[in-house]
Order: sequence, then C-alpha cells, then structure tokens
Amino acid sequence: MSQVLLTGGTGYIGSHTAVELLKQGLDVVIADDLSNSSASVIDRVEMICGKRPAFYEIDITDKKELKRVFDENDISAVIHFAAKKAVGESVRLPLKYYRNNIDGILTVLEVMKEHGCRRFVFSSSATVYGDSPVPFTEGTPLGKLANPYGRTKYMCEEILRDEAAAEPECSFVILRYFNPIGADASALIGEDPRRGSANIMPNLVLTAAGIKEKLSVFGTDYPTPDGSAVRDYIHISDLAEGHLAALRYAEENRGCEVFNLGTGRGSSVLELIESFERVNDLKLNVEYAPRREGDVPEMYAATDKAERVLGWKAKRGIDDMCRSSWLWGREVFK
Ligand code: NAD
Ligand code: WQD
Repeated sequence: MSQVLLTGGTGYIGSHTAVELLKQGLDVVIADDLSNSSASVIDRVEMICGKRPAFYEIDITDKKELKRVFDENDISAVIHFAAKKAVGESVRLPLKYYRNNIDGILTVLEVMKEHGCRRFVFSSSATVYGDSPVPFTEGTPLGKLANPYGRTKYMCEEILRDEAAAEPECSFVILRYFNPIGADASALIGEDPRRGSANIMPNLVLTAAGIKEKLSVFGTDYPTPDGSAVRDYIHISDLAEGHLAALRYAEENRGCEVFNLGTGRGSSVLELIESFERVNDLKLNVEYAPRREGDVPEMYAATDKAERVLGWKAKRGIDDMCRSSWLWGREVFK
C-alpha cells in the first residue's frame, strides 16, 4: 500500500486513526478544512508517533483542490471521515448538512475514480439503524431515521452500494460506528470538549472541569435496568484499530461490505457516570431531566461479523474510556 488519504483526518476519529496507521508504518495524507478541528493536531500526531502526516488544509467539496492532493501524492486508499456531525444543527440547517456530506462523498469518489484509486472506507453511523430492535446486526433492516444528519449517512451508504455495483473492481467498506468516547493514552489528542458537542462524554468532561454546572441525565424512565438509556460506547483507540482492519480487508476484497464497529456491550448513562466518577476519583453534579427528543432507549452492536471477517474486536472497557477521557480533558483545561 502506498499512501492513505484521511479526509477529515484532524478530527476526533481521524486523528486517532492517523496515529494507528502511522504506528503500523503506513504513509498518511490528511485533508481537512479545519471547520471542526485544529492544525495543532498534526504536531500532536507527530509527537505521538514520531512521524508527521502530510497535511492539506482544503475543503474536500472543492474538486480542484482535492485533485491537487491526488496529483501530488500516490494515494491507494481513502478513509472518508470528513462530514458535519452535529445532530441538532442538522435539524436547524439541513441544507448545510446535505451540501457538505453528500457533495463531500461525491467529490471524493469522482476524484478517486479519475486517479484510478479503488479502495474506499466510509464513516457511517449506527444511527442508520434508527429504532430497530437490538442488537443491531449488519443485516438488520434500517429503521426510521431521526434527523437530517442520519439521513446523509444513509444516502451516502446508498451511493456507495450503487457505485460498487457499477465498479466491480473497486472495494467499498462501510463502517457503522457506535458511540466512540475516550482518548489516546498520551492525552495529546481527543475530542475537544470546548467545541460545544451535545454528546455525553464532552459534557461529562465539562462538568468535571467545573465549566458546566450540572450534567443532565436525559431520561430515567426508559425500559432499561436502571431507567437510563443504553449505548454501545467504544474506545476511540479500538475504533482506530478497526480502520486498519478495514483497510486490509479492502486490499484483499472487492465489492461493498458493511461492518459494525462496536463492543457488543451496552452501558447505561448512569453506569457511565458511575465509572467516570470511580476511576477518576471525583463527584459530578448530576440532574435528572426528561428524555431528549429523537433518542432511542437502547442500542448496541452485534459484533460477530467484524470479528469473523475483519479479525477485529474491541479490547478496552468503559473504565478505560472514562479514565482516558478525563486525562485528556484535564490537559485541555490545564
Ligand atoms: P469531527 O468533526 O471531529 O471530524 C470531522 C472532520 O472533518 C473535522 O476535522 C472537520 O474539520 C472535517 N470536515 C468536515 N467537512 C469538511 C469538508 N467539507 N472538507 C474538509 N474537511 C471537512 O468528527 P468525528 O467524530 O471525528 O467523526 C468523523 C466521521 O465519523 C464523520 O463522518 C462522522 O459523521 C462519523 N461518525 C462519528 C461518530 C461520533 O460519535 N463521533 C459516530 C458515528 C459516525
Ligand atoms: C448518549 C446517551 C443521551 C448528553 C449520537 C448521534 C449518533 C452518533 C453518536 C454520529 C443518550 C444521553 C447525552 C447529555 C445525557 N454520532 N445524554 N446527557 O445520541 O447515542 O448518538 O452520537 O454519527 O448519530 O445521534 O450519543 O453521546 O449524544 O448520547 O444524558 O448531556 O447519553 O440522551 O441516551 P447518541 P450521545
């Protein structure tokens, strides 16, 4: 394999994947417009692995700029992370989401084709399962999609299935991530809690740092053992390793294949809070709040396909996720 292009590679999942790929000796090129990340991530990735990825600050929907990246490098595979991902914002500004996420994948696929690049790994989401019954297997019929963000992921998947049928020599791997949390063990990279995410871990970190007064637990009356909602939290470093397995799979196989990247184990919001407090030896100010609109009670992955076909399995537990999240969070607010 020559070079791997990571679109959105300075973002949360992209930066951890860059670290994993560089550690395995792969040559990494990153293209990111820094709309939701910082250029300092490149320095930090270099500090962790002793190798610096090539970096292009470009909007990947700009075809001319993206072509330049392919012209100046020898890219044999793309992992396409670049997308807007804030669910609430996608409800307020659907066109922004459709324009960026759909234009983004189309531009990348067109430029790849023009350059004879045949391997593509896509960041999809467990959100495409909607309100289907758990555990979600890759064969579970996709459920009712709750928001425009989720619909962009579903549409991108459909684009890939159509393109795979038309290009039998190519390989398209769709990865449906569950709930990534945690940070690299170095505490040099992680999900930046200052970016105003609605996700639970950035809010746990903000509450622990005293920046947010209280953490709201959205819903205590779900039909789950403790009444709070259940999710399949996955350590970001396990998720990053999953991308390496997907790349290897794409090298050896053609067609379009979907894999869940989760742990197969659900944890409730209250369990996550308990773990965070215990492993970090702190107490959070918590309030019980009504359910958040659009949330499902429970989601977790069936993981056997990824284990069997990719030879990949998540190794780290929620204690590890909570410990590394706060180690990183403390660094951010030092
Ligand atoms: P992130 O926002 O941290 O990273 C995405 C990166 O893409 C950012 O650095 C942003 O600047 C960049 N970007 C966005 N639009 C761009 C464009 N037009 N041109 C160039 N760069 C652009 O998000 P993340 O959590 O790392 O997510 C990565 C991918 O995984 C996304 O596609 C997201 O939808 C998907 N995903 C994320 C989660 C999650 O919980 N974090 C779950 C499932 C799927
Ligand atoms: C987890 C649980 C909340 C914040 C979202 C996207 C999904 C995917 C991953 C990209 C829920 C509860 C949260 C808080 C809380 N992203 N919660 N207090 O909703 O499972 O998935 O991120 O693809 O598409 O929808 O993740 O972290 O927002 O919430 O109680 O302050 O934590 O209600 O039960 P979610 P999340």
